[in-house]
Amino acid sequence: MKHPITLYKKRLTILLVTLCALSWSWAGEIDLIPKPLRIEQSEGHFRLTSKATIGYDTALQEQAEYQQQLLGQSTGWDLALKPEARKATIRLELKPGEVGHPEGYRLEVTPKGVTVTGEDQGGVFYGIQTLLQLFPAEVYSDRRQHDIEWTAPAVTIYDAPNRPWRGMMLDVARYFYHKEFVKKYIDMMAMYKLNKLQLHLIDDSGWRLEIKKYPRLTDVGAWAGHDARRLGGYYTQEDIKELIAYARVRNVEIIPEIEFPAHILSAIVAYPWLSCTGLQHEVPLQHFISKDLLCVGKESSIQFLSDILDETVALFPSAYINIGGDEAVYTRWESCPHCQAVVKREGLKDASELQGYLTNVVAEMMKKKGRTVVGWEEILLRGEVKTPVVGVFWHNVADTIEATRTGHKAILTPATHMYFDFPESQTPGEVKAATWMPPISVEKCYGMEINDYSPQSTVLGVQGCFWSDQFIHGTTLQEIDCLDENRSENYAEYLTFPRLLALSEVAWAPQAARNYRDFAQRLSHHFARLDFKDCHYRVPEPHIEKMATTPDGKLEFTLSPTVDRSLIRYTTDGSYPTTHSPIYTGPVTVADKSDFKAITVVTDTHYSLPIYFAPDYSAYKSYGEFTTEWKPLVVQTQKAPWRFECTGKIAGNGHYAISFIPTKGANPLRLGSLKLYKRDELLAEVAQPSTTDGQATTYRFTVDTFEAGTPFFVEVEAYGEGGNDTSGLVFILKEQ
Ligand code: ACM
Ligand code: ZN
Repeated sequence: MKHPITLYKKRLTILLVTLCALSWSWAGEIDLIPKPLRIEQSEGHFRLTSKATIGYDTALQEQAEYQQQLLGQSTGWDLALKPEARKATIRLELKPGEVGHPEGYRLEVTPKGVTVTGEDQGGVFYGIQTLLQLFPAEVYSDRRQHDIEWTAPAVTIYDAPNRPWRGMMLDVARYFYHKEFVKKYIDMMAMYKLNKLQLHLIDDSGWRLEIKKYPRLTDVGAWAGHDARRLGGYYTQEDIKELIAYARVRNVEIIPEIEFPAHILSAIVAYPWLSCTGLQHEVPLQHFISKDLLCVGKESSIQFLSDILDETVALFPSAYINIGGDEAVYTRWESCPHCQAVVKREGLKDASELQGYLTNVVAEMMKKKGRTVVGWEEILLRGEVKTPVVGVFWHNVADTIEATRTGHKAILTPATHMYFDFPESQTPGEVKAATWMPPISVEKCYGMEINDYSPQSTVLGVQGCFWSDQFIHGTTLQEIDCLDENRSENYAEYLTFPRLLALSEVAWAPQAARNYRDFAQRLSHHFARLDFKDCHYRVPEPHIEKMATTPDGKLEFTLSPTVDRSLIRYTTDGSYPTTHSPIYTGPVTVADKSDFKAITVVTDTHYSLPIYFAPDYSAYKSYGEFTTEWKPLVVQTQKAPWRFECTGKIAGNGHYAISFIPTKGANPLRLGSLKLYKRDELLAEVAQPSTTDGQATTYRFTVDTFEAGTPFFVEVEAYGEGGNDTSGLVFILKEQ
């Protein structure tokens, strides 16, 4: 990443070239994200000078120091702190009851000074965040910025969150992020008023939390591979204390996720007696969901949980302890005499209800310590749970109706809208990311509905999830040469931003206040702020304002910028635009849609993918989802295996039909036997197609061991008869 000042200069130069041609506004606007409840704008501006002072009520010292330090970095001024709010230039006041809503605030900016009145420390912190968004974007730089007018428009803002839980989950287990990155993530969350960080500390591929009583968890379970190629890491208890203190100032509560009974292979590698079989395994180097569970039938397992949760509770002040609980398959429990003895003793229906049993045991354990258990939705859907807990719903948010019937609460993180490990687009060249659901654009994320599915309004709020299984231990990214140091961190930022800003508004503002076009307009002004934060966000493509057919049958594109202080560059011959392609200044006419490509250029090294028009496969709808295509180049003339990926098209257990449809060419494609693989595991082998309907050749198979996040492949025997002049399309249909 270049020095932000260098970037900014470069961008200014580009800007000056085109300012006359493009009429987007970029200064002095109120473009707050998340949108506050009420804004009253008045005359004039507040101007920050080196003489300004920050006064604060005694309980607000941390918030005052935070503000002093942040303003100090970018302005270069050492603003004086006054441990009394009255008479200072910027006054931070704590007035419980005055705003009338937890985390609420009133911000008054006048030409004379600024007053932030908070309901609590969180409210004051958010008042400060809103004030920062009123200053020029440079305020976010951690280096001194010269020649900036540090002004903020005069306003009065009343604001409070719509719901108390505005979260992000960061998967530090599949990829170990250094604590400095976690701090940066917290900082960015706080900038957008998110207040809960669920740290996914444990998974099959790594145990990331130091537990003094069980040192092998981190000596062994935190590492994959061997010797010089060993990958992984963990947070010491001191690291965790540092993160908690850092987060507290920023009104972020860190909730540890201690995952069990599944996704715990790393602990089983360290202590094989934790599993039903007691077999020795290795920490995997690739994404893998182990079938080994914590053996719930052994007293030693419950003691283990009690011990690690004791240390966890002592370390984390959060009112919540997350116990994971997702994606357990119960085959090990079904064949384990210890587990079956519990099924019998407790009168359970089957092994799956052992999960509900275990949730009850742990929820009671935590209740005695004054903590509430949180976990993925599965903790509530596998047998009755008596102690009130909180479910994090990632599949069907309507399941909250059933789960909250008995007094439990819910957090919504539907994978369809809030999983930031999915790509934003299907544009060729998009980063490798999760595929078991369609891409999630910013607009889709922003459009997430928050219905109170349960009658008693038990939805605490919304959470985004960032899973790291796409670059577990950095493996995927090691394939990408052009990425430099900290590549996984850059990749995590690329996938998280700007969608985190959409999440921010979904979680903070009432649903009725949301309007995507208005949000997109405000968002366009936030990328410069993200630049000054050194954030490697995904640059959005230009927006197509209009696509009109001209009288002579051509297409005329009118574009608008999606990033303030950027350029649009384009081509009209179908080639990929570069940072030297012509600059867009007005409508462009082309003969065909596919001739037109345009990108957003923020800097020479930070630009978007081109606007992309996905091919129209609606004529083939009855064959399912487009999966791949064949062209002469990949066709052999002798029978040979053709292997292609179909991850994402295999979406859950069920019956599938895969169809091969020729579209062009003189030579027919002949097909033999077909195999379906889950990574390297053969799941199905079909000797013959089951139907040929004149258009398509179709094979049918069944999947009963689906795992989300694991790649699937088809291998089919194929050849072009008499030559390779053949092209066609492949579709997969999930029949039930
Ligand atoms: C999950 O995505 N397995 C909660
Ligand atoms: Zn067992």
